[in-house]
Amino acid sequence: MPDLPPDEFRRLGHQLVDWVATYLEHPEKYPVLSRAKPGDLVDALPAAGPEKGEPLDLALADFEKLVLPAVTHWNHPGFLAYFATSASAPGILAELLIAALNTNGILWKTSPAVTELEIVVLAWLRQWMGLPDDNFGIIFDTASTSSLHAIAAARELAAPEVRTTGRSHRTLVLYQSEHAHSSIEKAAIALGIGQENVRKIPADNAFRMKTSELEHAIRRDLEAGRQPFCVVATVGTTSTTSIDPVREISHCTRHRGLWLHVDTAYAGPAAIVPEFRYILDGAEFADSLVLNPHKWMFTPVDCSILYTRRPEILKCAFSLKPPVYLQGDDQQREVNLMEYAIPLGRRFRALKLWFIMRAFGREGLAAIIKDQCAMAREFAEWVQADDRFELMAPVPFSLVCFRLRGSDEANLRVLDAINSQGEAYISHTVLHGRVVLRVAIGNIATSRKTLKRLWNFLKRNASSKTEGAS
Ligand SMILES: Cc1ncc(COP(=O)(O)O)c(C=O)c1O
Repeated sequence: MPDLPPDEFRRLGHQLVDWVATYLEHPEKYPVLSRAKPGDLVDALPAAGPEKGEPLDLALADFEKLVLPAVTHWNHPGFLAYFATSASAPGILAELLIAALNTNGILWKTSPAVTELEIVVLAWLRQWMGLPDDNFGIIFDTASTSSLHAIAAARELAAPEVRTTGRSHRTLVLYQSEHAHSSIEKAAIALGIGQENVRKIPADNAFRMKTSELEHAIRRDLEAGRQPFCVVATVGTTSTTSIDPVREISHCTRHRGLWLHVDTAYAGPAAIVPEFRYILDGAEFADSLVLNPHKWMFTPVDCSILYTRRPEILKCAFSLKPPVYLQGDDQQREVNLMEYAIPLGRRFRALKLWFIMRAFGREGLAAIIKDQCAMAREFAEWVQADDRFELMAPVPFSLVCFRLRGSDEANLRVLDAINSQGEAYISHTVLHGRVVLRVAIGNIATSRKTLKRLWNFLKRNASSKTEGAS
């Protein structure tokens, strides 16, 4: 047999599982942010692949020696950048099975388990989040892909002629807050809406979309003969995790028949905590909603979920008469997810969600999310109690936005000092034209001890870096 012999697979497999267990026990052995310079790994590896096969032990040795130094450790407790995400052990184990089965859920019959487990876990999660039962769910790789599909469905509803002619009768216009994620604008580019027709609605002091400004923008476009078709509200914006007023926004969309898409890629999983249910207030009127278990549900990258109350429109957006080899058998209850999506192939991502949901249970996941939010509030209190720092945004979830009172350069120097010492990695953003540091807690291994060490480091560096600026 040309593949690895079973005994060899077993030997290497056990070795790798041991390696992973040790890694997960002590990821802090490694500097969280890779110290590699661009090109280091490319230069360290041969320019051409091996002509003859080699023992995998050699690849494993090179993995440790050459690849690992170029890895930034997202599973490190000190990873506090962007939206910190981590792969939990149940998810990692599921990934092994997913690869071993290597199913491709193109159609129901190409592996019924892929489709049906997806139906089951997405129904469980919908119930945990308190979303209405009429939401149909489908898993994609990333929120960018999920939102692309949502906006394609919105376009299908507003201007069905586009799928055939490539043009709409009137100029279609999409609305989002100035703090919406760039994936929305990218979707508008991909769908031929055009960047000129994406309105970036101003936000209030708490970085939430101003509904009055949205209303004005829609009116202006209608008066000019354009066709508003979709509004994207964000629950948990990327820079500050602010929450757009979804219910108020839904008043603007509902009576005009506009599609309302809620991007809750990061914050959505918080809705499984009863105290956080309020974040989806008004989302019962949304036509679609995206959340990413790979951001805040301890699921290995990648896993994004799109819920929609208009699955028939999503299906219309991409429906084609499939070639015979891609036709289902039209059995009762047979669902062919490729009919709702651009990709034909479908990984068995539902399996990792199922493992995670069963291993932690709703209560277990809710407890971690709640505790991470509590840690963020405690960090924010330290910031507020120290005159050298200022809090720059409310802390509704597990992200703290703050800055050193001083110049942008001083803040960037502190950022650099933190990120080069190897114990923590944080990112930054710009709010009201000023550099702001972000501490994003979302990693399952992050503890109060991690944050205390970071805070002590920040305090030690605060004075010296500010002085350095003057
Ligand atoms: C609010 C929001 N939406 C969408 C995205 C894009 O996520 P993905 O990387 O899954 O496409 C992000 C990424 O951080 C985000 O914060």
